[in-house]
Amino acid sequence: MSGTLINANMVDAIALPRVVWLRPNLIGLAFPLMKLLPARFIIRKALESGELTPGGLIAETTSGTFGLALAMVARLGGHRLTLVSDPAIDAPLKRRLEDLGATVHIVEKAGASGGYQTARLQVLERVLEENPGSFCPRQYDNPNNPGSYAPCAELLAHATGGIDCLIGTVGSGGSVCGTSSYLRLLFPELQVIGVDAHRSVIFGQSDAGSGRLLRGLGNSLMPPNVDHTAFDLVHWVGAAEAFRATRELHQRHAIFCGPTSGAAFLVADWWARNNPDALGAVIFPDEGYRYQDTIYDDAWLEEKNARLDVLPDGPVEWDRPHDGDDPWAFYRWGRRSFDEVMGAEAGRLEPVA
Ligand SMILES: Cc1ncc(COP(=O)(O)O)c(C=O)c1O
Repeated sequence: MSGTLINANMVDAIALPRVVWLRPNLIGLAFPLMKLLPARFIIRKALESGELTPGGLIAETTSGTFGLALAMVARLGGHRLTLVSDPAIDAPLKRRLEDLGATVHIVEKAGASGGYQTARLQVLERVLEENPGSFCPRQYDNPNNPGSYAPCAELLAHATGGIDCLIGTVGSGGSVCGTSSYLRLLFPELQVIGVDAHRSVIFGQSDAGSGRLLRGLGNSLMPPNVDHTAFDLVHWVGAAEAFRATRELHQRHAIFCGPTSGAAFLVADWWARNNPDALGAVIFPDEGYRYQDTIYDDAWLEEKNARLDVLPDGPVEWDRPHDGDDPWAFYRWGRRSFDEVMGAEAGRLEPVA
């Protein structure tokens, strides 16, 4: 029997997305766990360079899917793993990480600015100092995070022969910036739409105010891996809209994903309706199991005041990045750097009336 259909391990078996038609002009890339791509590539590269030695300690800060992906890769590779997280981590995920052999530190207090992220980074520094020879994957600034998306771009190019627009959420910037940089080698005209959350600093909002209910996209600190010049358009999506769209993705297409997929789907479906002659692809980063007691629970949505029964028709267009929560909005970023956009705009930042 040939072994070509048999993967070396589970990470290799599920690292790439399933490619699904959503509309005649829209394709979904449904990942079981997108972060397996950067986790696998970063660890492979660190072993090659000697930054990580066989069996060495890996330490990282994460409250989400990157931690799970690292835990799977580390366990299969025989590495020890310490993850620094915050109280937002859900108990089943924590148990799963620990079952995979990871040590999980929970930071209990947010920093004065930058929220939990600053506090988590401080604890991470301490872990790295106390463990000489340990390796930190640094998903926010390691170029091997965006660099890991070549197989995804290749899959998409093979499956379609070329697309006109890529739509995805932006957290570290790895997936959208990485995939689009490879695709643009083949299709330089490719449009890229980034989807962010309100009160994320990535595209010029401030993170002041209460915590973001929509998690997994956006950031309280600016990730160096975000290449702002990749983006033609930026959308800011509200939690309720993203949650409704997550449920629509499930109810219309039987695609069971997390809320960042919903946020991306909201924007992608709007884009597809408005560009019937172009072909788009949208990235769905994880599955819905972690969110069954939250986004998939109407009582939780009502309790959080985040239940919508119908989706808004479309976004409003902003003439500059604003602070503020509502509404779903977009801005023509125009492949400019952050300073090019915000240098002119920063002095005029003010809450939306
Ligand atoms: C569930 C989920 N969706 C989307 C993203 C954003 O992807 P990226 O970090 O590649 O920008 C993340 C990042 O952690 C995530 O965990």
